[in-house]
Amino acid sequence: MKEMSASDLLLIFGTETGNAEELAEDAGHLSRNLDFTPRVIDMEDISLEDISSSKRLIVICSTWGEGEQPVNAQKLYDSVKGSEDHCLEGVNFAVIALGDTAFEFFCESGKEWDEILQKKGGSRVVERIDCDVDYEDYVQEWILNTLSLMKKIQ
Ligand SMILES: Cc1cc2nc3c(=O)[nH]c(=O)nc-3n(C[C@H](O)[C@H](O)[C@H](O)COP(=O)(O)O)c2cc1C
Repeated sequence: MKEMSASDLLLIFGTETGNAEELAEDAGHLSRNLDFTPRVIDMEDISLEDISSSKRLIVICSTWGEGEQPVNAQKLYDSVKGSEDHCLEGVNFAVIALGDTAFEFFCESGKEWDEILQKKGGSRVVERIDCDVDYEDYVQEWILNTLSLMKKIQ
């Protein structure tokens, strides 16, 4: 799946109870207003190849168990982790981590995504945002800022 347009944006979500999916959909809607062409996809339904061919990528992932990836995210995460270095060169990414500060490993999965995407050659567009419960108040500003930075990527 090759990126065809300068406005293409890939949003992938890792979720157990739907918060990350809802946020990915919301971010997709916001991006449409800025003339992006978003694709919002479950991590379970996308391959490493799809990710490596995307120019603009937003990862939205919650944390479960004791600092673990959601079930739908684990396989993709493992395949990115097992990929060759430089595999994600040309991928401009940003990560939204969902979690709860009541847990010891706050936003651990999102932190892991942020780290592995850079390790495999991706370029971080903006610092990751770690969202505690009630993130609605502050995450939208981050999304709008991230979209405006991604807009500048040709
Ligand atoms: C059983 C359980 C385990 C969780 N473990 C963690 C954790 O280790 N670290 C963390 O930051 N948040 C943890 N959370 C909080 C979730 O990540 C948070 O509620 C998130 O918004 C869920 O998003 P989702 O619906 O997309 O999965 C946990 C929540 C539950 C119910």
